[in-house]
Formats: sequence, structure tokens, C-alpha cells
Amino acid sequence: MERVPHDGVLVVGAGLAGLSAALAAQPRKVLVLSPTALNHGCSSAWAQGGMAAALSADDAPELHARDTVSAGAGLVDPAMARLLAEEGPAAVRTLAALGAPFDRTEAGAFAQGLEAAHSKARVARVKGDQAGRAIMEAVTVAALSAPHIEVRTGAKLRALLQDANGRVRGVIAEIDGRLTEITAAAVVLATGGIGGLYAVTTTPAELTGDGLGLAALAGALIGDPEFVQFHPTAIDIGRDPAPLATEALRGEGAVLVNADGQRFMGRYHPDAELAPRDVVARAIHAEREAGRGAFLDAREAVGAGFPEEFPAVFAACMGGGVDPRAQAIPVAPACHYHMGGIAADADGRTTLAGLFAAGECASTGVHGANRLASNSLLEAAVFGTRAGRAAGAEVDVDALPLHGHAAPELADEGLQRLRLAMSRDAGVVRDATGLNRLLTEIDALEAAHGTAPALIAARLVATCALARTESRGGHFRADAPELKAPRRTFVRLSDLPAASPFRFAAE
Ligand code: SIN
Repeated sequence: MERVPHDGVLVVGAGLAGLSAALAAQPRKVLVLSPTALNHGCSSAWAQGGMAAALSADDAPELHARDTVSAGAGLVDPAMARLLAEEGPAAVRTLAALGAPFDRTEAGAFAQGLEAAHSKARVARVKGDQAGRAIMEAVTVAALSAPHIEVRTGAKLRALLQDANGRVRGVIAEIDGRLTEITAAAVVLATGGIGGLYAVTTTPAELTGDGLGLAALAGALIGDPEFVQFHPTAIDIGRDPAPLATEALRGEGAVLVNADGQRFMGRYHPDAELAPRDVVARAIHAEREAGRGAFLDAREAVGAGFPEEFPAVFAACMGGGVDPRAQAIPVAPACHYHMGGIAADADGRTTLAGLFAAGECASTGVHGANRLASNSLLEAAVFGTRAGRAAGAEVDVDALPLHGHAAPELADEGLQRLRLAMSRDAGVVRDATGLNRLLTEIDALEAAHGTAPALIAARLVATCALARTESRGGHFRADAPELKAPRRTFVRLSDLPAASPFRFAAE
């Protein structure tokens, strides 16, 4: 296999976390590897809501941090939440300076909207639902014109390269169908989430937890993999992935109704449509399971203004034969965000020397069991920048022999089986029977396809969901609805039983 030395930092992934890391690693040279064309296959570009930050005079980082901690259902690391909230306003201003066209008030301040579980209107938006796309366009232009950054698209991560001390020294990438070893002083994984492991997801289908699986295979510590966030209002028009109906619509007053047009959220939570995201997702799941259906009615709240105010939602609905100016939008919960990931500190350092992680593939403890709305673009910018700076300061170490083997890939037929099993058994409502059935399916797929990173990511979710015999945030166990003492999950792949049905059932 060809070996190409890169004199600097390797960033894997070109979403907001990856490009923020690349920009911040200067003056070191950065090589960004992306399996897809820029602004494709990354959740950042699909984000609708915006960026939460305490930018207004009546808000403060302490309040934002407090809301983040409270949404996270007992598992947020308060120091991380504080850091995110304190660095948030500067991160938004930096993106605005790069050209992200945030909505402004007449006086030129950031116009901010309300979203669920925020005590203040603090979400900086772009034209209703265009934040992700517009921010990524600005950051992509900045990255492509930065002299220290080189971008290679069509490059898929297949393994981490390590030396005899376990230090990560580079990657094996598949480029134009050929495996190539690329060595570097440091590797930043910004490979996104795991939505592609679920049959119903709002994220690009390419996101199948490969970075997470490969980091776990290399021995990295993994944090909270069982915590998956389901967005309550994916538009249910039979598209895969499912388009999102942003939470901002509920912030503007859109209501949830059943097929008879009756509002139902009041039966589930005093904050009704603005209840925490996990509560709304379970309520919609319950209404649908009971055969009553669930619809987002934005006719009064938005109505004729839809094409200008929420162009992405409008286009998706119209494409599915639903006119949201005149009809309620059919909605279903969908896998949206992974709170768990590769355990990382405030500078993105993982437990493996030379390896950094940022954005959705990382687990810093900032989201706990349930991420606060519109904290994900913010996290990508803040922690991506911090990881890039720290990785840029890494020095090349003495050359030792390197090892690493390209992991097997999960063929499409296997992936489709896995997606159905994950949605059925590791979805909005879980129990031991379903999770054991899922682990049996993962065992069978692994026997047929080998230890593909997607299967490792799925196994981490399923095993830790089975072991967590309580309900908290995004993790709801129908057979264990109570709350226990708060504890985060930290696990290595070597801690997991290899073939595990029923291993944890009797805890
Ligand atoms: C949304 O626009 O509803 C999603 C925002 C988020 O996931 O934070």
C-alpha cells in the first residue's frame, strides 16, 4: 500500500466541526479528507434551527449553560456547558465575519428565535430554516481559500494507523478505490453521527458511525453511546432520509394535533409543544402507536409566509404533496443526533495520543442525555476550533513501525437490515427484549460481514442501552421507566461481550 506523509494535521470530515478545526490549526498545514463533495453528506449543512448563543442584552452565558444542563437530564458536565455558552457569542460573531448571513434586527443586532427548553429567545437563524446551509457555505469558502488547508474529497476513512505505543499517527483512506496510508502529526475525527444506522433519520444516509467504530476498534474510550436523540417532527412523506420540520416552527407557535385536529401535547407536559425534545418525541410516538396520528399545524403560525420564512420545510412538504399553508404536516420521530461518541476533553483530546475528536462524533459531556436545541452547530464551531488549535500544536513523533488494517465494510443489504433493527429496537422506546433481539441481529450481521465500523457503532449503542436499566433523556426504557442515580457511561470495545444476547438482561 502506498504511504503518503502529510506534514501537519489530518482532519477527517468536512462539516462545521471539521472545517472549524482545519481553520484553527493554522499555521500548521491541514489535509481535510471527506468521502463526499463539500457540503454533501454532512449534517451541518442540513441544520435548520440555527446557533444558540447568549447574544442579547437580556441573556447571559450562565442562563444558556443552565438550560443546557437542565435539558441534559442530569448527565451534562457543567464545566463543558459553561465553556460552550461562554464561547458561543464569539463563535457566532466569527461565523458572521466569515460571511454567514444571520438574520438581523433593524438595529443590526442578531435576530434570535425561541426553541424548546430555552429560557430565552437565543437561536441565531438565517432566513427561518437556512442556518446550516448558509453557515457551511461561508465556512467552505473560507476553508478553500485558506493557504494552509488542502481538501481531498472522495476519500473514505477505513482505519486509524497506530504505532507500537498506541499513538495515532495517521489513517488508511480509500481514495478513488485505492487504499492509501496517510501519516500525520495528529488526526482530528469530525466524522459526524450515526443517523444512517436508523431506518428513519433526518441526517445524511452516509453517516453510519464509521469514525466512532474505527476509534473504538483502535482502543479509544467511548462515552454515553446509548444516548441518541430523536427529533419529534421529521416530515412523514416516505422520503429517506426524512426531511426535517424545524423546531423553530413550534417556537413560532405551530401546534401538534392528531388526525382529528385535537392538540395533544398538554396531556404530556405543561410546556406542551415547547417541552424538551425527548418528551415531544415520545408523545408523538405514543399518538402514532395509538393510531391517532401526529401532525404539525403551522397554518396559523406561519401560513402564507411559508415560502419566504421556512423555504426548506416548504419545499420538502410541497415535494411530498403537502401544502403547509393549507394542511397540517404529517410528522414522525426520527434519529437526529448522537449525544454519545468518542470520549474527548475540552480540546478534543481522546484517550489515544495523537487522536482528537470534535462535533457529533465526540462525547465531551456537553449534551448529557439530551442535547438542547440548536446547541449542535454551536458545539461544532466551539469544540472544532478548540480541537484544531490543540491538534495544530502536536509535534511529529519519532517514526516507529505503524499498524492498521482497513476494516470490512457493511454491504448495503446488511446495512438495510441493521437500519430496520435499530429503528425497531433502539429507537424512541426501548426494552430488554428488543435490545437483545437487536444484539442477536448485530451478531448475525457481524458473522456475515465482519467487524464493520457501522456494526461496532450499533453494538455500542445497543449494549449500553441494554445495560442502562433506567429512563433518562433520549434513552427511554419501557421496562425501566424510573430514574436511577446519574452516571455517565464510559466503555471500551474490549469491555463489551463479543456475542452478547441476554448478557445484561438480568441486571
Ligand atoms: C431543528 O431545527 O429543529 C433542529 C435544530 C437542532 O437539532 O438543534
